[in-house]
Amino acid sequence: MAVSVIAVVALAATVLGATIVPSRNDPLEFSTCGRVWVTVHSPEIKQTRQPDLIDALEVNWDFSSCSSIPKNIAIFKSRPLAWKDAEWFHSINTPQGYILTDVTLGEGALPGGWLTGPGLKGPHCLWPWVAAGDDEIQAYNCLKIQPTWMEDHTDKIGHLRIGELAIAGTHNAGAWRFNTEISNLARDSFVLCQDRSVWAQLVHGIRYLDFRIAYYEFYQNVDDRYWLNHNLVRVRPLVPLLREIRIFLDTTKEIVFLDAHHFPMGFYDQTGAPLQHVHAGLLEIIQRELGPHLAFANDFATGVGTKGPTVQTLLDADKRLVFSYVDNSVVNQNNWLWPVLPHLWANTNNPTQLFEYLDQAIANSPQPNARSPLHSAMAQTTPTILDIVFLRGSLRQNADAVNRNVTARLATKWRQQANIVSTDFFLGDDVIDLSIAINVERGSRL
Ligand SMILES: *[C@@H]1O[C@H](CO)[C@@H](O)[C@H](O)[C@H]1NC(C)=O
Repeated sequence: MAVSVIAVVALAATVLGATIVPSRNDPLEFSTCGRVWVTVHSPEIKQTRQPDLIDALEVNWDFSSCSSIPKNIAIFKSRPLAWKDAEWFHSINTPQGYILTDVTLGEGALPGGWLTGPGLKGPHCLWPWVAAGDDEIQAYNCLKIQPTWMEDHTDKIGHLRIGELAIAGTHNAGAWRFNTEISNLARDSFVLCQDRSVWAQLVHGIRYLDFRIAYYEFYQNVDDRYWLNHNLVRVRPLVPLLREIRIFLDTTKEIVFLDAHHFPMGFYDQTGAPLQHVHAGLLEIIQRELGPHLAFANDFATGVGTKGPTVQTLLDADKRLVFSYVDNSVVNQNNWLWPVLPHLWANTNNPTQLFEYLDQAIANSPQPNARSPLHSAMAQTTPTILDIVFLRGSLRQNADAVNRNVTARLATKWRQQANIVSTDFFLGDDVIDLSIAINVERGSRL
């Protein structure tokens, strides 16, 4: 799809001057029909004679189920009340779509007191709001954090089993910024999958973290040997990331799903046999850092082919970390570990094939004999070796090519059956807010 950068339009709509009266219990998202939402463009935009534009805002709309399409869409700095207050304004004439703007998110600091520690409960808006309508504003929304969404909705979703939830996840959650002796690059073409810290991911509403853990024996201190990698590239040390998760679990009532999904280095000998002391060392660190929050599988799992404990069961026990482990031989020796969490992974660099695969895979999940109550749709393309060698594209461009479609699929085809949906550069999709809405829907149906 051709993407155009639309210049800021001088605000011709001032004359419309329409206002809406906000209700007393002001929701952050409002609509009479259809939806608007804000996303963040993952690739940087090259500009002539100006620095690259980073974190450009995208405005998205879907009024395909409505009798009429609004004519205007605009970005606001605060709750949209009148068109004349807009920062950026554009007209639209299709039932659904998006516009890439040249307005940047800027720092994107976490609001509500959540910058580095716990803040106020409930959703909070970052600055960008979007509104659509004709004379009147008909729908609005904002880019938000959802730090306590499970607690906010416990009365509606508490009786859902964890395998019945829709959960926003991050693929390769640790690959968000280098922290090594050799590199502190913030933006890399083929290694970094995220650009928000693990803390920020959790505060935004991500509840599933896919970790790729590697072991480097040459460090003196055992803690220093465990790293989060992207394949063979060392990105960040593990322990500080576990501490971010710990603070989040200590200060909220949210459930977090942590998945040790791949051990690219140092966990196996040449014959492929697990190195027991390396696995044991990792499990010790997990127990030490997250122990009080661990929901042991032997206490809570509900058996093969079932959907696991309910949200309420985990909350009542105050055991809110579900830790799954990719090696079943290790799981068999440590029955507190949750078994291999199936990844629905297309292993393709082609978006069309990715969606064909995921449509099928989600419809056929969970498998009747699945050991894990959970499954994760890996909603990102995978570059080939040749893509990387010839620097064809980047993970940011790849994410941009699929993330909007992931949002659209989750709202439609995947709505009934999706469990975890993991993406790269998650601010480019709306999986968090959509999952929350889907959970409330599923909760009211059961
Ligand atoms: C993504 O969505 C757009 C807009 O609906 C569509 O034109 C495009 O074909 C979709 N891409 C894939 C790979 O499904």
